[in-house]
Amino acid sequence: MLEESVDAKILEIMRAGDGFASGEALSRELGVSRTAVWKHIKGLRGQGYRIESVPAKGYRLVTAPDLITPAELTRGLATRRVGGRVVCLKETDSTNAVAFKMAEEGAVEGTVVIADTQSAGKGRLGRIWLSPPGVNLYCSVVLRPPISPVAACQLTFLSVVAVARTIERETTLIPQIKWPNDILVAGKKVAGLLNEMNAETEKVNFVVLGIGVNLNMRLEQLGSTLRHPATSLLEASGTPVRRIAFARTLLEELDGLYDRFLIEGEAPIRAEWLERSAIGGRRVKVNTGNGEFRGTVQGVDAFGALLVQSDQGALETVLSGDVALLDGDA
Ligand code: BTN
Repeated sequence: MLEESVDAKILEIMRAGDGFASGEALSRELGVSRTAVWKHIKGLRGQGYRIESVPAKGYRLVTAPDLITPAELTRGLATRRVGGRVVCLKETDSTNAVAFKMAEEGAVEGTVVIADTQSAGKGRLGRIWLSPPGVNLYCSVVLRPPISPVAACQLTFLSVVAVARTIERETTLIPQIKWPNDILVAGKKVAGLLNEMNAETEKVNFVVLGIGVNLNMRLEQLGSTLRHPATSLLEASGTPVRRIAFARTLLEELDGLYDRFLIEGEAPIRAEWLERSAIGGRRVKVNTGNGEFRGTVQGVDAFGALLVQSDQGALETVLSGDVALLDGDA
């Protein structure tokens, strides 16, 4: 049994009984020595679990930390692919970088990498993604969709919709999508997506969905600017979010949407994206990196491009860039 599975099983047994689980019963059920059980209890305590131990009675789980561990994340997780393998790191440079490397080395579809903090969290357009410890979710998921590289951006729709649904399920807030892949609450950014891909001309080898959500960050940690106002779910709702519950729901939503994507294609997901984005018909200013123009949004195409009727008259297909709404909040 994997070390993480032993941890998970010990937690499960302690949770199932309403009293103590004896060292002997644990060692019997797990098929490991009592010394091994003790080592695992020590390890769990090191992760922040408060476990009482009473001679002749055994161990009792008192409290669990809001820590994202493989054991907590995968406990009863109802997914087909996403979360089949989970790696939780205390600190790393970027979960996307770790997941990308693992995928290059053959990691299975559905592999998830989560870190408590990132020293070089990557944002879009070469920006830094602020990633302090203990408060947020930094997560990357490896997928191996049977699609061509031009269609890979459809997975961006998928991950954005998954995050929006998760925010709705885990909070009382109403998230809104801003093209291409930002999620706002009350007009301020709470989450960002950075999907990276490894592909050949005709075929995607793998995609890494990189998802950062500001869950419990405080105002002073946010690094918000006038041009890029940011918030967290805690700041927006006044209620802290349990990270583990949020992460589990997110993995379930990703998995369900990916399953649908494989069966029905991208259309239903793009339709939900459009509905949630409330961007259709809105006046926008588009910065493509090569210049700026103003216009009215007509929709998004199946390749993730924003279709904007420019004030000059042409229908522009915007593949990447920044979009600012000109007619009030998103
Ligand atoms: C954006 O600029 O809006 C995209 C931000 C994406 C951040 C996430 S956090 C987890 C994953 N690892 C990274 O280095 N980046 C993404």
